[in-house]
Amino acid sequence: MPTTTAAKSREDVLKKTIKLCRERRIVVPTFAQLKDPRLIPASIGARLKSVGLWDVDPLNLFRITWHNDVGSGLFGGVNFLELPCAITGVRARIVGLVGKYFPTGAHKVGAAFGCLAPRLVTGEFDPVSQKAVWPSTGNYCRGGAFDSALLGCAAVAILPEGMSRERFDWLKSIGAEVIATPGTESNVKEIYDKCWEIRKKRKDCVIFNQFDEFGNPAWHYTTTGPAVEEVFERIRGKRCRLAGYVSATGSAGTIAAGDYLRKKFPLLRVCASEALQCPTLLLNGFGEHRIEGIGDKHVPWVHNVRNTDAVAAIDDEDCMRVLRLFNEAAGQKLLGREGVKPAVLQALPLLGISSISNMLGAVKLAKYYELDENDVVFTIFTDSVEMYRSRLVELGQRRGEYGDAQAGLDLERCLRGQAADHFKELGYYERKALHNLKYFTWVEQQGKSSEALRRLWDPEFWDETFAQVERWDQLIVDFNRRVGATP
Ligand SMILES: Cc1ncc(COP(=O)(O)O)c(C=O)c1O
Repeated sequence: MPTTTAAKSREDVLKKTIKLCRERRIVVPTFAQLKDPRLIPASIGARLKSVGLWDVDPLNLFRITWHNDVGSGLFGGVNFLELPCAITGVRARIVGLVGKYFPTGAHKVGAAFGCLAPRLVTGEFDPVSQKAVWPSTGNYCRGGAFDSALLGCAAVAILPEGMSRERFDWLKSIGAEVIATPGTESNVKEIYDKCWEIRKKRKDCVIFNQFDEFGNPAWHYTTTGPAVEEVFERIRGKRCRLAGYVSATGSAGTIAAGDYLRKKFPLLRVCASEALQCPTLLLNGFGEHRIEGIGDKHVPWVHNVRNTDAVAAIDDEDCMRVLRLFNEAAGQKLLGREGVKPAVLQALPLLGISSISNMLGAVKLAKYYELDENDVVFTIFTDSVEMYRSRLVELGQRRGEYGDAQAGLDLERCLRGQAADHFKELGYYERKALHNLKYFTWVEQQGKSSEALRRLWDPEFWDETFAQVERWDQLIVDFNRRVGATP
């Protein structure tokens, strides 16, 4: 019977994977442990102390969490940064979870783990003889290449040729095969085309497509959502409301934290943001933009648009100007004079371009809904300026030295002057329209069925999808037991 044959071949793969993990002393963390590292055995913690955050050491699988304490090398509270009114210009409190302290310096390593782990422990991917392919606009393929290196398996990173030099340099250093597709940030169709070519020609490759793999949003539902909740409980005042969650969508994995938060805080507004220069969610629009990591001229399969209350489009020029304001000496001095405390000034380089875009989305949401000091809006500082130093150099070369006058203009125009424009609250039909837009990418181009698409409109579909994590965790526990990995 075919099912028996398939099960046997999966068991054969599993045996090979177990042998590999035994030889490399690999323990796979559960999603529950990444959500709450207090569940990680002390013996793992003891060994982790001598492992650097970016080291290619399988123990770093346990650091795919929001809780890394860079001081001790162990775990602590969730890493976050609250931005003061002197920066945001709004009364509402704006707080971002900090992605820099993940291995690779970006939170996308979690999405890669979410896609890889379930297939690894079920024998659906063979790390010994197959290559893991990571189609991405940048950080996801870096995360995937990192996770692959920890397992000692070969990785193929696909990303547009126009992405920042830092990403390409790092991928080369970790030994990934790099395929650069035409275009920049929003050219995801070209990435899909490359995936089809690989599917046809290279039988040794398995594609982990973050845009349609539910391990991606499931990882965020399980870890990012509770991380936001934990920070909220820690910083809230008596009358505080968790009023908003804003996430710029690339693959639309991160925004799934909003599905978790909706269950806990039903009045929360979940806002998807994107680049004004490529306003696909706002206007079915298209275009090139400079907010690396987001906005891809399509609605990802894994985006639960029914749970999205609003969309905000952010001008990429504002992001580039704020990047300079936060990182150039004249900008830092001006913000200091405006009353921003030294500790916050020092922390501003934690925001990369899409983090700044997320912050501006949170400002728009706060302005649109007229939020006050009892409202907290959460967002994600996905990666830091470390990924964009070359962009700062380019801006300096093109626009000249950054001085006081420019800093003043940027503060007034991009932060204080940020309005609630290009912001749309989504009614039922507008959400349905976004859902229907998936048809043209996923059914017409990528071979999904209309029936599968219809299922994505059902709230129960998403509940069941996220509930799978418990089963995956059990499989991971069983897998580790077979490896003999009692940490
Ligand atoms: C820098 C950066 N910001 C934001 C995102 C968007 O996150 P998501 O893909 O979960 O929507 C990505 C995704 O790759 C990213 O690399």
